[in-house]
Amino acid sequence: MSANESVSELFTESDKNDNIFTIGVTVDTGFEWEAIDEYREKIDKEARVSKQRGRIYFNIDRDHLAKIQQMRSIDHIFIVADNGQLSLTNDKESDLLHIRNSDMFLKSDSRWKKTLEAWKCMTAFKGKVYPTVEEYNAAKEQDLVVKAKMLEMRNKKKEEKDALDWDVSEMKEEKGKKRGSDPSKSDENDVLKYRVTCERSGKHAIESNEVARIIGEVVQDKFHWIVDLSMYHLEIVCKLIDDQLTTHLRVTHKSLHNRNIMHFGPTTLRSTICYNLLKLAVPKPGDIIVDPMCGGGSIPIEATLAFPHTYILCGDNDSRAVDRTKLNMNVSTVGCKIDLVQWTAAKLPFKDSIVDIVVTDMPFGRRSGNKSYNKIFYKEFLLELGRIVKLNGRIVLLTYDRCNFKDALMAAGDLFWVIKIIGVNVGGLPAAVYVLNRTQTSLDRFKPRVAKQHNYSTNKKN
Ligand SMILES: C[S@@+](CC[C@H](N)C(=O)[O-])C[C@H]1O[C@@H](n2cnc3c(N)ncnc32)[C@H](O)[C@@H]1O
Repeated sequence: MSANESVSELFTESDKNDNIFTIGVTVDTGFEWEAIDEYREKIDKEARVSKQRGRIYFNIDRDHLAKIQQMRSIDHIFIVADNGQLSLTNDKESDLLHIRNSDMFLKSDSRWKKTLEAWKCMTAFKGKVYPTVEEYNAAKEQDLVVKAKMLEMRNKKKEEKDALDWDVSEMKEEKGKKRGSDPSKSDENDVLKYRVTCERSGKHAIESNEVARIIGEVVQDKFHWIVDLSMYHLEIVCKLIDDQLTTHLRVTHKSLHNRNIMHFGPTTLRSTICYNLLKLAVPKPGDIIVDPMCGGGSIPIEATLAFPHTYILCGDNDSRAVDRTKLNMNVSTVGCKIDLVQWTAAKLPFKDSIVDIVVTDMPFGRRSGNKSYNKIFYKEFLLELGRIVKLNGRIVLLTYDRCNFKDALMAAGDLFWVIKIIGVNVGGLPAAVYVLNRTQTSLDRFKPRVAKQHNYSTNKKN
Protein backbone atom coordinates (compact mmCIF):
# COMPACT_ATOMS: atom_id res chain seq x y z
CA MET A 1 0.00 0.00 0.00
CA SER A 2 1.39 3.40 -0.90
CA ALA A 3 1.93 6.39 1.38
CA ASN A 4 1.58 9.26 -1.01
CA GLU A 5 -1.45 11.13 0.25
CA SER A 6 -0.92 14.84 0.76
CA VAL A 7 -1.58 16.39 4.16
CA SER A 8 -4.21 18.60 2.48
CA GLU A 9 -6.09 15.58 1.18
CA LEU A 10 -6.09 13.98 4.61
CA PHE A 11 -7.12 17.24 6.27
CA THR A 12 -9.97 17.88 3.82
CA GLU A 13 -11.33 14.45 4.68
CA SER A 14 -11.03 14.89 8.45
CA ASP A 15 -12.54 18.37 8.24
CA LYS A 16 -15.78 16.90 6.94
CA ASN A 17 -16.21 14.41 9.75
CA ASP A 18 -16.42 15.23 13.45
CA ASN A 19 -15.00 11.87 14.42
CA ILE A 20 -11.93 11.92 12.20
CA PHE A 21 -8.67 13.68 13.08
CA THR A 22 -5.53 14.31 11.06
CA ILE A 23 -2.52 13.41 13.16
CA GLY A 24 1.15 14.09 12.48
CA VAL A 25 3.90 12.14 14.24
CA THR A 26 7.66 12.53 14.13
CA VAL A 27 9.92 9.54 13.52
CA ASP A 28 13.69 9.07 13.49
CA THR A 29 14.69 9.86 9.92
CA GLY A 30 14.96 6.69 7.87
CA PHE A 31 12.44 4.72 9.94
CA GLU A 32 9.28 6.27 8.48
CA TRP A 33 8.20 2.95 6.95
CA GLU A 34 8.55 1.14 10.25
CA ALA A 35 6.21 3.70 11.85
CA ILE A 36 3.71 3.33 9.00
CA ASP A 37 3.87 -0.46 9.39
CA GLU A 38 3.31 -0.22 13.14
CA TYR A 39 0.35 2.10 12.64
CA ARG A 40 -1.22 -0.19 10.07
CA GLU A 41 -0.53 -3.27 12.15
CA LYS A 42 -1.87 -1.94 15.46
CA ILE A 43 -4.46 0.70 14.58
CA ASP A 44 -5.72 0.76 11.01
CA LYS A 45 -4.55 -1.68 8.39
CA GLU A 46 -6.19 0.29 5.57
CA ALA A 47 -4.73 3.64 6.70
CA ARG A 48 -3.89 6.20 4.05
CA VAL A 49 -0.73 7.95 5.04
CA SER A 50 1.33 10.96 4.02
CA LYS A 51 5.04 10.19 4.39
CA GLN A 52 7.56 12.99 4.72
CA ARG A 53 11.16 13.01 5.88
CA GLY A 54 11.08 12.26 9.61
CA ARG A 55 7.31 12.68 9.83
CA ILE A 56 4.12 10.87 8.88
CA TYR A 57 0.48 11.99 8.81
CA PHE A 58 -2.66 9.88 8.90
CA ASN A 59 -6.35 10.19 9.63
CA ILE A 60 -7.67 8.46 12.69
CA ASP A 61 -11.03 7.81 14.25
CA ARG A 62 -11.78 9.50 17.60
CA ASP A 63 -12.06 6.08 19.29
CA HIS A 64 -8.47 5.21 18.37
CA LEU A 65 -6.76 8.42 19.50
CA ALA A 66 -5.47 6.87 22.73
CA LYS A 67 -3.81 4.05 20.81
CA ILE A 68 -1.37 6.45 19.13
CA GLN A 69 0.24 7.13 22.50
CA GLN A 70 0.97 3.41 22.79
CA MET A 71 2.96 3.33 19.54
CA ARG A 72 6.61 2.45 20.06
CA SER A 73 8.18 3.75 16.83
CA ILE A 74 7.30 7.45 17.10
CA ASP A 75 8.68 10.43 19.01
CA HIS A 76 6.14 13.26 19.07
CA ILE A 77 2.43 13.50 18.30
CA PHE A 78 0.55 16.51 16.88
CA ILE A 79 -3.09 17.10 15.97
CA VAL A 80 -3.54 19.12 12.80
CA ALA A 81 -5.82 22.06 13.59
CA ASP A 82 -5.76 23.96 10.30
CA ASN A 83 -4.34 23.45 6.85
CA GLY A 84 -4.61 25.54 3.74
CA GLN A 85 -3.07 27.43 0.90
CA LEU A 86 -2.05 31.06 1.42
CA SER A 87 -1.68 33.58 -1.38
CA LEU A 88 1.63 35.14 -0.47
CA THR A 89 2.88 38.09 -2.48
CA ASN A 90 6.44 38.33 -1.15
CA ASP A 91 5.63 41.68 0.37
CA LYS A 92 6.21 41.39 4.09
CA GLU A 93 3.44 43.68 5.36
CA SER A 94 0.72 42.39 3.07
CA ASP A 95 1.75 38.77 3.70
CA LEU A 96 1.51 39.21 7.46
CA LEU A 97 -1.85 40.90 7.06
CA HIS A 98 -2.96 38.10 4.80
CA ILE A 99 -2.04 35.48 7.42
CA ARG A 100 -3.87 37.45 10.10
CA ASN A 101 -7.04 37.70 8.01
CA SER A 102 -6.73 34.43 6.17
CA ASP A 103 -9.92 32.43 5.87
CA MET A 104 -8.18 29.19 6.67
CA PHE A 105 -6.71 30.07 10.03
CA LEU A 106 -8.90 29.80 13.13
CA LYS A 107 -12.03 30.58 11.19
CA SER A 108 -13.81 27.30 11.80
CA ASP A 109 -15.11 27.26 15.38
CA SER A 110 -16.35 23.70 15.15
CA ARG A 111 -13.01 22.49 13.80
CA TRP A 112 -11.09 24.12 16.65
CA LYS A 113 -13.60 22.92 19.21
CA LYS A 114 -13.18 19.33 18.13
CA THR A 115 -9.38 19.65 17.91
CA LEU A 116 -9.06 21.26 21.35
CA GLU A 117 -11.31 18.61 22.86
CA ALA A 118 -9.07 15.91 21.43
CA TRP A 119 -5.94 17.75 22.63
CA LYS A 120 -7.41 18.06 26.13
CA CYS A 121 -8.31 14.42 26.21
CA MET A 122 -4.91 13.21 24.91
CA THR A 123 -2.88 15.43 27.24
CA ALA A 124 -5.18 15.16 30.29
CA PHE A 125 -5.13 18.98 30.62
CA LYS A 126 -7.48 19.88 33.47
CA GLY A 127 -7.51 23.68 33.24
CA LYS A 128 -9.64 26.20 31.38
CA VAL A 129 -9.56 26.06 27.58
CA TYR A 130 -12.30 28.69 27.21
CA PRO A 131 -11.58 31.24 29.97
CA THR A 132 -13.71 34.35 30.26
CA VAL A 133 -12.00 37.74 29.89
CA GLU A 134 -12.22 38.14 33.69
CA GLU A 135 -10.54 34.77 34.23
CA TYR A 136 -7.88 35.74 31.72
CA ASN A 137 -7.21 39.06 33.47
CA ALA A 138 -6.98 37.40 36.88
CA ALA A 139 -4.66 34.69 35.56
CA LYS A 140 -2.51 37.27 33.78
CA GLU A 141 -2.14 39.26 36.98
CA GLN A 142 -1.24 36.12 38.91
CA ASP A 143 1.24 35.20 36.18
CA LEU A 144 2.94 38.58 36.46
CA VAL A 145 3.31 38.12 40.22
CA VAL A 146 4.88 34.66 39.73
CA LYS A 147 7.25 35.98 37.06
CA ALA A 148 8.26 38.92 39.26
CA LYS A 149 9.02 36.47 42.08
CA MET A 150 11.12 34.35 39.78
CA LEU A 151 12.98 37.41 38.60
CA GLU A 152 13.63 38.36 42.19
CA MET A 153 14.93 34.85 42.94
CA ARG A 154 17.09 35.01 39.85
CA ASN A 155 18.64 38.30 40.92
CA LYS A 156 19.20 36.97 44.43
CA LYS A 157 20.90 33.91 43.06
CA LYS A 158 23.02 36.10 40.79
CA GLU A 159 24.25 38.00 43.78
CA GLU A 160 24.92 34.82 45.75
CA LYS A 161 26.72 33.04 42.95
CA ASP A 162 28.31 35.57 40.75
CA ALA A 163 30.21 33.02 38.82
CA LEU A 164 27.18 30.95 37.96
CA ASP A 165 25.86 31.49 34.47
CA TRP A 166 22.24 31.70 35.48
CA ASP A 167 19.76 31.79 32.65
CA VAL A 168 16.28 31.32 34.04
CA SER A 169 17.18 27.66 34.40
CA GLU A 170 14.08 26.87 36.43
CA MET A 171 11.93 28.10 33.59
CA LYS A 172 14.05 26.82 30.75
CA GLU A 173 13.00 23.58 29.13
CA GLU A 174 15.42 20.71 29.56
CA LYS A 175 16.69 20.48 26.03
CA GLY A 176 15.50 17.39 24.23
CA LYS A 177 13.68 16.14 27.30
CA LYS A 178 10.60 18.12 28.22
CA ARG A 179 8.71 20.88 26.49
CA GLY A 180 6.83 23.48 28.47
CA SER A 181 4.95 22.30 31.51
CA ASP A 182 3.17 18.99 31.65
CA PRO A 183 -0.54 19.62 30.83
CA SER A 184 -1.58 16.64 32.95
CA LYS A 185 -0.13 18.38 36.02
CA SER A 186 -2.41 21.42 35.59
CA ASP A 187 -5.32 22.05 37.92
CA GLU A 188 -8.83 23.12 37.10
CA ASN A 189 -8.21 26.81 37.86
CA ASP A 190 -5.30 27.11 35.46
CA VAL A 191 -5.94 29.20 32.39
CA LEU A 192 -4.29 27.58 29.40
CA LYS A 193 -0.79 28.87 28.65
CA TYR A 194 0.48 28.63 25.12
CA ARG A 195 3.20 29.53 22.69
CA VAL A 196 3.37 29.52 18.92
CA THR A 197 6.41 28.41 16.94
CA CYS A 198 6.89 28.35 13.20
CA GLU A 199 9.01 26.18 10.93
CA ARG A 200 9.41 27.43 7.39
CA SER A 201 10.76 26.12 4.15
CA GLY A 202 10.68 27.86 0.81
CA LYS A 203 11.25 31.49 -0.13
CA HIS A 204 9.30 34.02 1.93
CA ALA A 205 9.50 37.72 2.67
CA ILE A 206 8.38 36.95 6.22
CA GLU A 207 10.47 35.40 9.00
CA SER A 208 9.36 32.41 11.08
CA ASN A 209 9.10 34.45 14.27
CA GLU A 210 6.87 37.01 12.53
CA VAL A 211 4.50 34.27 11.41
CA ALA A 212 4.50 32.86 14.97
CA ARG A 213 3.79 36.31 16.42
CA ILE A 214 0.86 37.02 14.09
CA ILE A 215 -0.69 33.62 14.69
CA GLY A 216 -0.10 34.04 18.44
CA GLU A 217 -2.04 37.30 18.35
CA VAL A 218 -4.96 35.78 16.45
CA VAL A 219 -5.08 32.91 18.97
CA GLN A 220 -5.05 35.27 21.93
CA ASP A 221 -7.78 37.48 20.52
CA LYS A 222 -9.95 34.45 20.10
CA PHE A 223 -9.27 32.35 23.18
CA HIS A 224 -7.81 34.67 25.87
CA TRP A 225 -5.01 32.24 26.70
CA ILE A 226 -1.83 33.34 28.45
CA VAL A 227 1.33 33.58 26.35
CA ASP A 228 4.20 31.79 28.08
CA LEU A 229 7.22 30.92 25.98
CA SER A 230 8.73 28.49 28.48
CA MET A 231 6.02 27.09 30.78
CA TYR A 232 3.28 26.68 28.18
CA HIS A 233 0.77 23.81 28.32
CA LEU A 234 0.07 23.98 24.61
CA GLU A 235 2.52 24.54 21.80
CA ILE A 236 1.02 25.50 18.46
CA VAL A 237 3.50 24.52 15.76
CA CYS A 238 2.96 26.18 12.38
CA LYS A 239 4.63 24.76 9.33
CA LEU A 240 4.85 27.07 6.36
CA ILE A 241 6.05 25.17 3.33
CA ASP A 242 6.02 27.47 0.31
CA ASP A 243 2.39 28.71 0.37
CA GLN A 244 1.01 25.85 2.44
CA LEU A 245 0.35 26.59 6.11
CA THR A 246 -0.37 23.73 8.51
CA THR A 247 -1.11 24.37 12.16
CA HIS A 248 -0.42 21.58 14.65
CA LEU A 249 -1.20 21.24 18.36
CA ARG A 250 1.58 19.37 20.15
CA VAL A 251 0.27 16.50 22.24
CA THR A 252 3.52 15.12 23.65
CA HIS A 253 5.14 16.98 26.50
CA LYS A 254 8.25 14.83 26.16
CA SER A 255 9.39 12.56 23.39
CA LEU A 256 8.04 9.02 23.51
CA HIS A 257 11.59 7.70 23.00
CA ASN A 258 12.27 8.67 26.58
CA ARG A 259 10.77 5.62 28.22
CA ASN A 260 13.04 2.75 29.28
CA ILE A 261 16.46 4.02 30.25
CA MET A 262 17.46 5.75 33.48
CA HIS A 263 21.23 5.15 33.42
CA PHE A 264 22.65 6.67 30.27
CA GLY A 265 25.99 5.84 28.67
CA PRO A 266 28.02 7.60 26.00
CA THR A 267 26.13 5.93 23.13
CA THR A 268 22.68 5.14 24.52
CA LEU A 269 20.25 4.49 21.70
CA ARG A 270 16.71 5.94 21.76
CA SER A 271 14.02 3.38 22.57
CA THR A 272 12.16 4.30 19.37
CA ILE A 273 15.21 3.37 17.27
CA CYS A 274 15.62 0.13 19.25
CA TYR A 275 12.00 -0.74 18.52
CA ASN A 276 12.42 0.01 14.81
CA LEU A 277 15.57 -2.13 14.59
CA LEU A 278 13.84 -5.00 16.37
CA LYS A 279 10.77 -4.64 14.16
CA LEU A 280 12.97 -5.00 11.07
CA ALA A 281 13.95 -8.46 12.34
CA VAL A 282 10.26 -9.51 12.49
CA PRO A 283 10.39 -11.29 15.89
CA LYS A 284 8.00 -14.20 16.40
CA PRO A 285 6.90 -15.80 19.67
CA GLY A 286 9.57 -18.18 20.92
CA ASP A 287 12.43 -16.55 18.99
CA ILE A 288 15.83 -16.26 20.66
CA ILE A 289 17.01 -12.64 20.21
CA VAL A 290 20.61 -11.67 21.00
CA ASP A 291 22.21 -8.24 21.31
CA PRO A 292 25.92 -9.08 21.55
CA MET A 293 27.01 -5.43 22.15
CA CYS A 294 24.23 -4.14 24.35
CA GLY A 295 25.91 -1.08 25.97
CA GLY A 296 23.37 0.03 28.60
CA GLY A 297 20.78 -2.49 27.44
CA SER A 298 18.48 -0.27 25.41
CA ILE A 299 17.81 -2.86 22.67
CA PRO A 300 17.20 -5.88 24.96
CA ILE A 301 14.99 -3.88 27.33
CA GLU A 302 12.86 -2.59 24.46
CA ALA A 303 12.74 -6.17 23.12
CA THR A 304 11.28 -7.57 26.36
CA LEU A 305 8.64 -4.84 26.45
CA ALA A 306 7.64 -4.83 22.80
CA PHE A 307 8.06 -8.55 22.08
CA PRO A 308 7.40 -10.24 25.43
CA HIS A 309 7.06 -13.75 24.01
CA THR A 310 10.67 -13.95 22.90
CA TYR A 311 13.77 -15.02 24.81
CA ILE A 312 16.41 -12.32 25.09
CA LEU A 313 20.12 -12.57 25.75
CA CYS A 314 22.64 -9.78 25.70
CA GLY A 315 26.17 -8.88 26.69
CA ASP A 316 29.07 -6.49 26.24
CA ASN A 317 32.83 -6.74 26.67
CA ASP A 318 32.91 -3.64 28.90
CA SER A 319 32.05 -4.36 32.54
CA ARG A 320 30.74 -0.80 32.97
CA ALA A 321 28.23 -1.39 30.18
CA VAL A 322 27.15 -4.68 31.77
CA ASP A 323 26.63 -2.90 35.12
CA ARG A 324 24.61 -0.17 33.41
CA THR A 325 22.41 -2.75 31.71
CA LYS A 326 21.77 -4.37 35.11
CA LEU A 327 20.73 -1.02 36.58
CA ASN A 328 18.48 -0.24 33.64
CA MET A 329 16.90 -3.69 33.78
CA ASN A 330 16.13 -3.22 37.45
CA VAL A 331 14.47 0.16 37.08
CA SER A 332 12.70 -0.34 33.79
CA THR A 333 11.46 -3.85 33.55
CA VAL A 334 10.82 -5.52 36.85
CA GLY A 335 10.90 -9.26 36.32
CA CYS A 336 11.98 -8.95 32.68
CA LYS A 337 13.39 -12.00 30.99
CA ILE A 338 16.87 -10.94 29.91
CA ASP A 339 20.02 -12.95 30.38
CA LEU A 340 23.10 -10.75 30.61
CA VAL A 341 26.72 -11.89 30.20
CA GLN A 342 30.09 -10.15 29.89
CA TRP A 343 31.60 -11.54 26.68
CA THR A 344 33.38 -10.63 23.51
CA ALA A 345 31.14 -10.50 20.49
CA ALA A 346 33.82 -12.10 18.33
CA LYS A 347 33.59 -15.30 20.38
CA LEU A 348 30.13 -15.87 21.77
CA PRO A 349 29.25 -18.72 24.16
CA PHE A 350 26.68 -20.34 21.86
CA LYS A 351 26.45 -23.58 19.97
CA ASP A 352 26.33 -23.34 16.17
CA SER A 353 23.05 -22.28 14.50
CA ILE A 354 21.06 -21.65 17.66
CA VAL A 355 20.03 -17.97 17.55
CA ASP A 356 16.96 -16.78 15.61
CA ILE A 357 17.68 -13.05 15.61
CA VAL A 358 20.62 -10.75 16.27
CA VAL A 359 19.96 -7.02 16.63
CA THR A 360 22.80 -4.74 17.63
CA ASP A 361 24.25 -1.27 17.47
CA MET A 362 27.86 -1.68 16.36
CA PRO A 363 30.77 0.22 17.94
CA PHE A 364 31.74 3.40 16.12
CA GLY A 365 33.78 6.60 16.27
CA ARG A 366 35.69 7.75 19.30
CA ARG A 367 33.07 7.03 21.93
CA SER A 368 32.84 3.34 21.13
CA GLY A 369 35.44 1.59 18.95
CA ASN A 370 37.48 3.22 16.20
CA LYS A 371 38.04 2.59 12.50
CA SER A 372 41.17 0.46 12.85
CA TYR A 373 39.51 -1.63 15.58
CA ASN A 374 36.39 -1.98 13.44
CA LYS A 375 38.42 -3.10 10.43
CA ILE A 376 39.38 -6.33 12.16
CA PHE A 377 36.52 -6.69 14.61
CA TYR A 378 33.65 -6.28 12.12
CA LYS A 379 35.00 -9.21 10.06
CA GLU A 380 35.43 -11.47 13.09
CA PHE A 381 31.97 -10.49 14.32
CA LEU A 382 30.19 -11.26 11.05
CA LEU A 383 31.86 -14.66 10.85
CA GLU A 384 30.75 -15.36 14.42
CA LEU A 385 27.20 -14.39 13.45
CA GLY A 386 27.51 -16.78 10.51
CA ARG A 387 28.24 -19.52 13.06
CA ILE A 388 25.61 -18.83 15.75
CA VAL A 389 22.61 -17.66 13.71
CA LYS A 390 20.21 -20.32 12.43
CA LEU A 391 19.99 -20.82 8.68
CA ASN A 392 17.41 -18.25 7.47
CA GLY A 393 17.86 -16.39 10.78
CA ARG A 394 17.50 -12.57 10.75
CA ILE A 395 20.19 -10.03 11.57
CA VAL A 396 19.75 -6.28 11.95
CA LEU A 397 22.88 -4.21 12.44
CA LEU A 398 23.18 -0.46 12.93
CA THR A 399 26.55 0.93 11.91
CA TYR A 400 28.10 4.34 11.40
CA ASP A 401 31.15 2.79 9.78
CA ARG A 402 29.76 1.72 6.41
CA CYS A 403 33.17 1.32 4.85
CA ASN A 404 34.45 -1.32 7.27
CA PHE A 405 31.04 -2.93 7.34
CA LYS A 406 31.02 -3.38 3.56
CA ASP A 407 34.49 -4.96 3.71
CA ALA A 408 33.36 -7.31 6.46
CA LEU A 409 30.28 -8.26 4.46
CA MET A 410 32.48 -9.09 1.46
CA ALA A 411 34.70 -11.22 3.67
CA ALA A 412 31.64 -13.05 5.05
CA GLY A 413 30.72 -13.80 1.43
CA ASP A 414 27.68 -15.98 0.87
CA LEU A 415 26.90 -16.48 4.56
CA PHE A 416 24.45 -13.57 4.36
CA TRP A 417 21.89 -12.20 2.00
CA VAL A 418 21.28 -8.47 2.23
CA ILE A 419 17.52 -7.89 2.46
CA LYS A 420 17.77 -4.13 2.67
CA ILE A 421 19.99 -1.24 3.64
CA ILE A 422 18.35 1.81 5.22
CA GLY A 423 20.07 5.17 5.53
CA VAL A 424 19.14 6.63 8.92
CA ASN A 425 20.01 9.61 11.05
CA VAL A 426 20.95 8.81 14.63
CA GLY A 427 21.55 11.79 16.89
CA GLY A 428 22.51 13.90 13.87
CA LEU A 429 24.97 11.29 12.54
CA PRO A 430 24.36 9.52 9.25
CA ALA A 431 24.27 5.77 9.80
CA ALA A 432 23.10 2.65 8.02
CA VAL A 433 20.93 -0.25 9.07
CA TYR A 434 21.74 -3.56 7.40
CA VAL A 435 19.00 -6.15 7.41
CA LEU A 436 20.54 -9.52 6.61
CA ASN A 437 19.35 -13.09 6.33
CA ARG A 438 21.63 -15.96 7.16
CA THR A 439 21.77 -18.03 3.96
CA GLN A 440 21.78 -21.85 3.82
CA THR A 441 25.54 -21.91 3.24
CA SER A 442 27.39 -23.85 5.95
CA LEU A 443 30.23 -22.09 7.71
CA ASP A 444 32.91 -24.51 6.45
CA ARG A 445 31.84 -24.01 2.82
CA PHE A 446 31.26 -20.28 2.54
CA LYS A 447 33.06 -18.26 -0.09
CA PRO A 448 34.15 -14.66 0.45
CA ARG A 449 32.77 -12.28 -2.16
CA VAL A 450 34.91 -10.33 -4.58
CA ALA A 451 33.97 -6.79 -5.43
CA LYS A 452 32.20 -7.47 -8.77
CA GLN A 453 29.97 -10.17 -7.37
CA HIS A 454 28.13 -7.74 -5.14
CA ASN A 455 24.51 -8.31 -6.00
CA TYR A 456 22.37 -6.99 -3.23
CA SER A 457 18.63 -6.63 -3.48
CA THR A 458 17.26 -3.52 -1.85
CA ASN A 459 13.76 -3.38 -0.49
CA LYS A 460 11.33 -1.58 -2.74
CA LYS A 461 9.94 0.51 0.11
CA ASN A 462 13.18 2.13 1.17
C1 LIG B 1 27.36 1.70 20.08
S1 LIG B 1 27.60 0.94 21.60
C2 LIG B 1 26.06 0.18 21.96
C3 LIG B 1 25.15 1.11 22.68
C4 LIG B 1 23.87 0.47 23.13
N1 LIG B 1 22.99 0.13 22.02
C5 LIG B 1 23.15 1.39 24.11
O1 LIG B 1 22.09 1.92 23.75
O2 LIG B 1 23.63 1.61 25.20
C6 LIG B 1 28.61 -0.41 21.17
C7 LIG B 1 28.94 -1.30 22.31
O3 LIG B 1 29.77 -2.35 21.80
C8 LIG B 1 30.62 -2.75 22.83
N2 LIG B 1 31.71 -3.53 22.21
C9 LIG B 1 32.72 -3.09 21.44
N3 LIG B 1 33.50 -4.12 21.07
C10 LIG B 1 32.96 -5.23 21.62
C11 LIG B 1 33.29 -6.61 21.61
N4 LIG B 1 34.35 -7.06 20.96
N5 LIG B 1 32.48 -7.45 22.29
C12 LIG B 1 31.42 -7.03 22.96
N6 LIG B 1 31.05 -5.74 23.02
C13 LIG B 1 31.81 -4.85 22.35
C14 LIG B 1 31.04 -1.44 23.48
O4 LIG B 1 31.51 -1.67 24.80
C15 LIG B 1 29.75 -0.64 23.44
O5 LIG B 1 29.05 -0.77 24.65
